[in-house]
Amino acid sequence: METFLQLAEAVPGGARVPAAAIRDAPRFGWRGLLLDVCRHWLPMPEVLRTLDAMAAAKMNVLHFHLSEDQGFRVESLRYPRLHTYGSDGNYFTQDDIRAIVAYAAARGIRVVPEFDVPGHATAWLVGHPEIASGPPPTGILRTWGVSVGILDPTNEATYALLDGLFGEMAGLFPDPVFHIGGDEVPPTAWRQSAPIQAWMRANGVANEHDLQAVMNRRLSAMLIRHGKTMMGWDEILHPDLPVETIGHAWRGKRFLAQALAAGSPAVLSNGYYVDLYQSAARHYQVDPEAGLDTLTNEQRARILGGEAAMWAEMVTPEILDHRLWPRAAAVAERLWSPASVRDTVDLMRRLDAHAMRLERADGLRIGAAQAAMLARVAGGGPHEGLSVLAGLVEPVEGYVRHGQYTR
Ligand code: ACM
Repeated sequence: METFLQLAEAVPGGARVPAAAIRDAPRFGWRGLLLDVCRHWLPMPEVLRTLDAMAAAKMNVLHFHLSEDQGFRVESLRYPRLHTYGSDGNYFTQDDIRAIVAYAAARGIRVVPEFDVPGHATAWLVGHPEIASGPPPTGILRTWGVSVGILDPTNEATYALLDGLFGEMAGLFPDPVFHIGGDEVPPTAWRQSAPIQAWMRANGVANEHDLQAVMNRRLSAMLIRHGKTMMGWDEILHPDLPVETIGHAWRGKRFLAQALAAGSPAVLSNGYYVDLYQSAARHYQVDPEAGLDTLTNEQRARILGGEAAMWAEMVTPEILDHRLWPRAAAVAERLWSPASVRDTVDLMRRLDAHAMRLERADGLRIGAAQAAMLARVAGGGPHEGLSVLAGLVEPVEGYVRHGQYTR
């Protein structure tokens, strides 16, 4: 239907569609977008608008990044201290989540929740200091960066809480996949904790990576009991990990290969980080199936697809549409179309048309957001000069700007 709609053209008094036969099908079944609603809070209108835009790009998985050092963004009826102490009041109620899941489903989109453990977890520990590995935090993290606040994988209370929470969330999110994060776990708190070090010695656990694997095996079994398949970022890859676990490669293509070689399904996000201020053309050139020559056909067949990632350190409701679209549609097309479709000049022409369609049909603010912000910088006066300047410069790539806020 989206392919058909893309052919429609507005004409006076109606719309016109050329007579054509459509032969169109996706290359990958997992065409995702990660939305981080933690670093900056993105409320309901932004989520629903993003789902409309995803549907227009034929994306079908919303990876909902719901917990972080900077916020815990879902209401838990079992553990209300999680969202009340971890969100400044900026969280989705359970009714909100049901509405999001239904809105997504009506557009052919799955919602895969992510609750990131054991790292990126400061917001959990504000209300639940008993499951922290070290001294508990005094509040959620208010700057960019990864905090040392992590869960204690040697404490039964940690598993009791996770089992209760995951069971509750399993009922709220019907999708069979459940993402447990697992990325960037700073080992400091585990190394500095005498009880955790003693537990590792007593249980023959050699290092922190193995300790995380001990935890992940329990989480996988827990999620299977709740009817879910576990997914996690590539740091969780480990020989002890159950083979059904879905690997999510973000640090490099080699981690996609590693998960596949181990017999696991995998999703690629490396190369698709749309928060890095890189060109759409650059994301477009990244192909999940390229450079995997050492793998067998059977292993390659376990590539589920990929996901654009919209991390939100530099994203607010005002700028979201402009940061995300039409850029993420380049990733969407890479995941939909054959690998042979890779003309970037043609891509740019079509992305412009797509952006106009998103503005007109779905009410997104792409150009309008930029114009409003330039006008604000100009103090309400004329901003033509600023527009020229903005057209001549480009943002610094990567996370350089973020560092300004931690110094
Ligand atoms: C990640 O970007 N830390 C998954």
